[in-house]
Amino acid sequence: MKREQFSSSLGFILAAAGSAVGIGNLVAFPVMASKNGGAAFLIIYAFFVFFVCLPVMLAEMSLGRHTRQNPLGAYTEIGQNRAWRTVGWLSVITPFMIGVFYLVITVWIAGYLGKAIMGQLDQLADPNGFGVFINSNELFAYMALVVGLTFLILQGGVKKGIEKATTVLMPLLFVMLIALVIYVLTLENAMLGVKFFLVPDFSKITGQVLNGALAQAFFSLSLAMGILITYGSYIQKNNNIVSAGKMVAGLSLLVACCSGLLILPAAFSFNPDIEISELSESSIGMIFMFLPKIFLALQADIGYFGASFIASFFFLLVFFAAMTSLVSIIEVPVASIMDGKGLSRRKALYSLGAAMVVLAVISALSFGRIDWLSNILSYGGNTKSFFDLIYDMFYETILPLNGLLLCLFVIYRWKKHNLDAEMSQGNASFAGSFLQKYVNFSLGTFIPVILAIIFINTVLTIYFGYNMLTVFFSSIGFN
Ligand code: PHE
Repeated sequence: MKREQFSSSLGFILAAAGSAVGIGNLVAFPVMASKNGGAAFLIIYAFFVFFVCLPVMLAEMSLGRHTRQNPLGAYTEIGQNRAWRTVGWLSVITPFMIGVFYLVITVWIAGYLGKAIMGQLDQLADPNGFGVFINSNELFAYMALVVGLTFLILQGGVKKGIEKATTVLMPLLFVMLIALVIYVLTLENAMLGVKFFLVPDFSKITGQVLNGALAQAFFSLSLAMGILITYGSYIQKNNNIVSAGKMVAGLSLLVACCSGLLILPAAFSFNPDIEISELSESSIGMIFMFLPKIFLALQADIGYFGASFIASFFFLLVFFAAMTSLVSIIEVPVASIMDGKGLSRRKALYSLGAAMVVLAVISALSFGRIDWLSNILSYGGNTKSFFDLIYDMFYETILPLNGLLLCLFVIYRWKKHNLDAEMSQGNASFAGSFLQKYVNFSLGTFIPVILAIIFINTVLTIYFGYNMLTVFFSSIGFN
């Protein structure tokens, strides 16, 4: 069977941007930036996006387009030995497991969207509301809805499913985001938030912040999850991978910045005297606990319907962003089964989906509903739930490891000249350019070193409660 393709470069860019733009950009980024020096964080983050993440992104896309394979197939074909095949397995299992936790979060967002549409803002803003919702039976109705929608999109295949959905949802998402930013900026005291977001405070930048910024940039661009290898395998040979990669990185960064201009002004208009420590630590806390309070407070100004409308609009935006990311991550194992076992898309989707739903249900039950699932293991001084376990193992630990292995694979196994040849297809002026030299050099030297440090530090921190980076930075007098 001939491999499906995106119909154009734009189709690919929107699909890849759909994958990249997710909860990470819309919520995690503004939270991190606000806590860690505002524009100072933004500058560092942008630097990481273009100088560390972009080369990895180009390598993934090139590997995919060259082999016309899913990650397992790509590693097997070029690696030619069992060790690389194992790495291939890792890069299919990782997105599968990250897909499970992302599915659970998308279901929560769908639930909040549903409640906002029904005008139940007081329930959402209730301090116990979130805990009650994630342990309710209602949750499973939303899970059925999200799974159904995801299947519907993926069943359509590359062009009629993924590309079609993202070419509708992404432009809509951009327009909605801009509309919300404009609205929020007209609120009283909004400028305090803008100032807070845009005034740099370099004293906040510590070793730990640098580590967090890089990990966030990596996750936010959907790297090391096999997604861009898989989507890359659907790019036409005459499309320009390099300019597409730059567009995707740029769009993802742009959305992150706009989102900062949305969330911080909203927080300050809600309470001009807000202390940064009062903003929630995590993106989960931000979307599901802090922002609902703002929507509820809005009722006093614009009434019940107005506030419910704005809340629904916001959750719809986040829901679109989450759906396009979820679709991209599930496509990886689906493509692997289709390529590897020769199954039809439908069969691959159903067998995989069933396994995924089982794991997602188990995760959803691990927030207190079933005791042993909620306290499944203890390590690094903390007791972890099944959901935490997936998050720690695959997102925190294996993701940087996959990135590291990918760099080594592309440069030392596949070889630089093959990477160059692939990147130069559809891009005549690329050979000999600065970017070409930079990509080759960085992927073979400092990027894998940085990823190795992040990997080792994560393992020590999470599983042994010992933060190597903090110890190192404080020993050289840099906290
Ligand atoms: N880029 C996504 C985000 O920012 C992360 C992601 C992509 C997660 C794809 C899962 C699947 O939220």
